[in-house]
Amino acid sequence: MLESLFILFCLLSSGFCIESNNITASLVIKDPDTIVSSGNIYRLGFFRPANTTNRYLGIWNYVSAMSIIWVANRDNPLKDSSGIVTISEDGDIVLINGKREIFWSSNATSSPMNTSARLLDNGNLVLQDISNGRTIWESFGHPTDAFMPKLKLNDNPRTGERVLLTSWRSPQDPDFGSFTAGLQALNIPQIFIWNGSRPHWRSGPWNGQSFTGVADMYAKYLDGYSVMKQDDGTVSFMQDYYGKILMKIILKSNGSFVQTMWNVQRRVWDVTWIAPMDVCDVYEKCGPFGNCNLLNSPMCSCLKGYEPKNKEEWDKGNWSGGCVRKTLLQCDRNNNSTDKNKADVFWKITNVKVPDFMDVSTGIEAVECEGLCLRNCSCIAYSHDHGIGCMFWNRSLIDVRQLPIGGLVLHVRVAYLELDNQKDIRVIVIVPVTIGLVIVFIGIFFTWRWMAKRKGTKRKGRILTYEVGKSYISDSSGVVLRDDIDEPSLDELPLFSFQMLETATFQFDVTNLLGKGGFGPVYKGKLASGKDIAVKRLSTASGQGLQEFMNEVVLISKLQHRNLVRLLGCCVEKGEKMFIYEYMQNRSLDVSLFDRSQNILDWRKRFNIFEGIGRGLLYLHRDSRLRIIHRDLKPSNILLDEDWCPKISDFGMARIFGGNQNQADTGRVVGTYGYMAPEYAMGGRFSEKSDVFSFGVLVLEIVSGRKNTSFYNDELSLGLLGYSWKLWNEYNTVDMIDQRISSPSSLAEIVRCIHIGLLCVQEFPVNRPSISTVLSMLSSEIFDLPVPEHPGFTDRWNRSYVGSSSSKTSESANKVTLTALEGR
Ligand SMILES: *[C@@H]1O[C@H](CO)[C@@H](O)[C@H](O)[C@H]1NC(C)=O
Ligand SMILES: *[C@@H]1O[C@H](CO)[C@@H](O)[C@H](O)[C@H]1NC(C)=O
Ligand SMILES: *[C@@H]1O[C@H](CO)[C@@H](O)[C@H](O)[C@H]1NC(C)=O
Ligand SMILES: *[C@@H]1O[C@H](CO)[C@@H](O)[C@H](O)[C@H]1NC(C)=O
Ligand SMILES: *[C@@H]1O[C@H](CO)[C@@H](O)[C@H](O)[C@H]1NC(C)=O
Ligand SMILES: *[C@@H]1O[C@H](CO)[C@@H](O)[C@H](O)[C@H]1NC(C)=O
Ligand SMILES: *[C@@H]1O[C@H](CO)[C@@H](O)[C@H](O)[C@H]1NC(C)=O
Ligand SMILES: *[C@@H]1O[C@H](CO)[C@@H](O)[C@H](O)[C@H]1NC(C)=O
Ligand SMILES: *[C@@H]1O[C@H](CO)[C@@H](O)[C@H](O)[C@H]1NC(C)=O
Ligand SMILES: *[C@@H]1O[C@H](CO)[C@@H](O)[C@H](O)[C@H]1NC(C)=O
Ligand SMILES: *[C@@H]1O[C@H](CO)[C@@H](O)[C@H](O)[C@H]1NC(C)=O
Repeated sequence: MLESLFILFCLLSSGFCIESNNITASLVIKDPDTIVSSGNIYRLGFFRPANTTNRYLGIWNYVSAMSIIWVANRDNPLKDSSGIVTISEDGDIVLINGKREIFWSSNATSSPMNTSARLLDNGNLVLQDISNGRTIWESFGHPTDAFMPKLKLNDNPRTGERVLLTSWRSPQDPDFGSFTAGLQALNIPQIFIWNGSRPHWRSGPWNGQSFTGVADMYAKYLDGYSVMKQDDGTVSFMQDYYGKILMKIILKSNGSFVQTMWNVQRRVWDVTWIAPMDVCDVYEKCGPFGNCNLLNSPMCSCLKGYEPKNKEEWDKGNWSGGCVRKTLLQCDRNNNSTDKNKADVFWKITNVKVPDFMDVSTGIEAVECEGLCLRNCSCIAYSHDHGIGCMFWNRSLIDVRQLPIGGLVLHVRVAYLELDNQKDIRVIVIVPVTIGLVIVFIGIFFTWRWMAKRKGTKRKGRILTYEVGKSYISDSSGVVLRDDIDEPSLDELPLFSFQMLETATFQFDVTNLLGKGGFGPVYKGKLASGKDIAVKRLSTASGQGLQEFMNEVVLISKLQHRNLVRLLGCCVEKGEKMFIYEYMQNRSLDVSLFDRSQNILDWRKRFNIFEGIGRGLLYLHRDSRLRIIHRDLKPSNILLDEDWCPKISDFGMARIFGGNQNQADTGRVVGTYGYMAPEYAMGGRFSEKSDVFSFGVLVLEIVSGRKNTSFYNDELSLGLLGYSWKLWNEYNTVDMIDQRISSPSSLAEIVRCIHIGLLCVQEFPVNRPSISTVLSMLSSEIFDLPVPEHPGFTDRWNRSYVGSSSSKTSESANKVTLTALEGR
């Protein structure tokens, strides 16, 4: 069937398809023959752009002839259709015409060799030495204008060797255009588009996950982009999807990057990303020390402490001159001046593509950057990213723009005067006002004394008592929630001595190790009384600092619920921090669920586990005195007691919400990939609905008995959510049920649970049910379930989804901290 379609296509396209994907010395390709890659994805042959008779040898997608990804003889077109591709005597791929004139050659071999060339399914044309299979030449090493999965954009700062894309001259002319693009690996890797030798666009520095100046770039695990360094100093930027997705980024002849993906359903190329994305994205739009923000009018402004170099030109909208410093910095001020000792200060600007030409100090904490910069007279700005470290600037701040989302925080050094002005104004206002008020109060006081005397009554002063209540303040940048609840007091909790725990666990013997959590090992222990306990020993090197420890102590000691693990006490001694929990006989859910050699969890138990987790969550979200978002719900954090009753544990990342607050943003995304809701993983925005998302993933995992993350290397590469969604659309959810559940009588209930799971993992938080609704659904109080919409994280085609749902407010740069995927 496929074969005959294939032949039909060949006949229709008037060329002759060669039933092979390789060229050898004996097998030549004559215009208009083509060869096709083994999976029928790419095709090598001759083409003619519109309005010209010139013919070129190129590679294009089999699915649509006009998306050409590579051209051989771009500056040397054939004038007729006499072209022939073959392997020359010395083993090179050559393009010759009828008169055997060479129009193009791979130019890779110097001595006679037996070679063959093959077109691979990723669009790469490779020339191999037959005798040893070594690759001598590949078209991915000499790209035209297309960046594709597996193609490496290289830069070797030592040797200066680069692999660059070069645009076409015009949409009809494949000749070398004026734009090139590639990686610049000096200092921190950045992608550039150059117009001739001048930068035209810049991606911002790479932080190990994404380019920080690209607003909607996903984390590595979704987008598959990576930057790698080889031993010889070559740094490569490449992209590798988990699945077979046809994607390409073309450097257009107008200097724009346009990313498109093949939409299988609609059979069209969807445009998914464009750079420069707007006028502000153009390199150095506002000149040195200028800042471009599309939301402002005019869009260019000077950074704090700077003023236009040429006011007249600037006001006319000619920003190329940029800005200059207004007030001298401390280092530059005259030694004799009176304010010599006033240290400079930093002005903070968020969501920016940080300037070009940075110096980097890796492995430095954010808090140290400021001091380092302040002490160095040549430092004029700094920024920090967890994946990069501190970045410093010493000459000028070029190509700064504000992004709608993402970006980093830039701290610009300014003289103390620049920021102190406001304080001075305050002093001017406050002093007279205070004096005035004092006079008025004195007047009132004496009047009152006088009146009280006249009445002859003595009143007792009423004492107002303010309840020292809880206040929930989000800090100035709106980033992290601070919970000013009653200072955690360890006194309320039983304190265990280190020695007692040492004895209970036999000196923390490995045989007593229950597992390793994200923050350290968990041991089983037996107290002298005979009671079993679990001891979580926070490793000093772990990310869980005192803050998280206190968080957990405060939270758990206040929470009492059947489905939450009980904290018996803690231990803070000898620089160690430990939690003592009740011991759970059946350990954590991942152990019994994902170990396929076991078959302990029948359907009843699994159902009870859903319900239990749901109840625990409901208590956290609604019923407890505090409103708590757990943020790290996953099987390894669900413990099971001897009756298989689930208990939620690990509150190190939980956050407390104010009574009327419904969502919050955080600058630090913590949690575990695979269980995090998209709006949280991408935007750092969490709410009850992000816990509901994690709950949905849990439900699907429990029903299928498969880990969400176990799907990444599948040929389908859909992830558990994508897989469930696919089966749902095929009316075939029965297929995903764990084989170990043999419970035909409950089939309807199982399918219903999958349905509920899918409702919980919907992409948009508003669509997801609240946990109380989920419980009503589970108990069939709500019988008719709504139809689920698309789940989060499965639609790699449509990146704009997340962008549009999170672009309403600006968000700060998000750092992702991962806990180990393996739980205790
Ligand atoms: C040509 O390709 C076919 C199948 O792809 C392969 O079996 C054959 O060995 C190749 N021939 C040469 C000379 O490489
Ligand atoms: C080809 O030339 C014709 C006439 O000159 C013009 O109308 C048409 O737009 C051209 N096509 C392209 C793709 O440039
Ligand atoms: C082949 O390489 C030589 C030198 O290495 C160069 O002069 C020549 O222009 C190259 N030819 C092609 C077609 O690239
Ligand atoms: C190429 O292969 C032919 C026969 O297969 C052999 O005679 C010849 O020596 C080979 N040439 C080289 C350079 O290996
Ligand atoms: C590219 O550079 C050329 C010459 O310097 C200039 O004329 C042209 O406007 C530039 N193009 C863009 C898109 O900036
Ligand atoms: C360049 O062309 C592409 C389409 O070919 C278009 O989407 C993009 O907006 C253009 N860029 C500019 C700066 O005009
Ligand atoms: C813009 O201003 C610069 C000086 O700041 C000047 O050299 C340049 O000619 C001006 N360009 C235009 C188009 O006026
Ligand atoms: C201030 O004094 C220091 C040494 O005390 C000297 O190195 C520096 O150049 C002086 N700065 C100015 C602006 O005079
Ligand atoms: C600073 O003061 C000293 C002595 O008071 C004087 O000799 C020197 O010229 C002054 N320096 C400047 C730059 O004014
Ligand atoms: C100050 O900063 C410059 C440039 O960032 C750097 O080269 C120099 O080593 C720094 N000096 C000190 C003392 O850290
Ligand atoms: C800024 O730092 C770079 C690299 O450390 C150095 O080469 C350059 O000379 C410095 N420039 C100034 C003005 O200090």
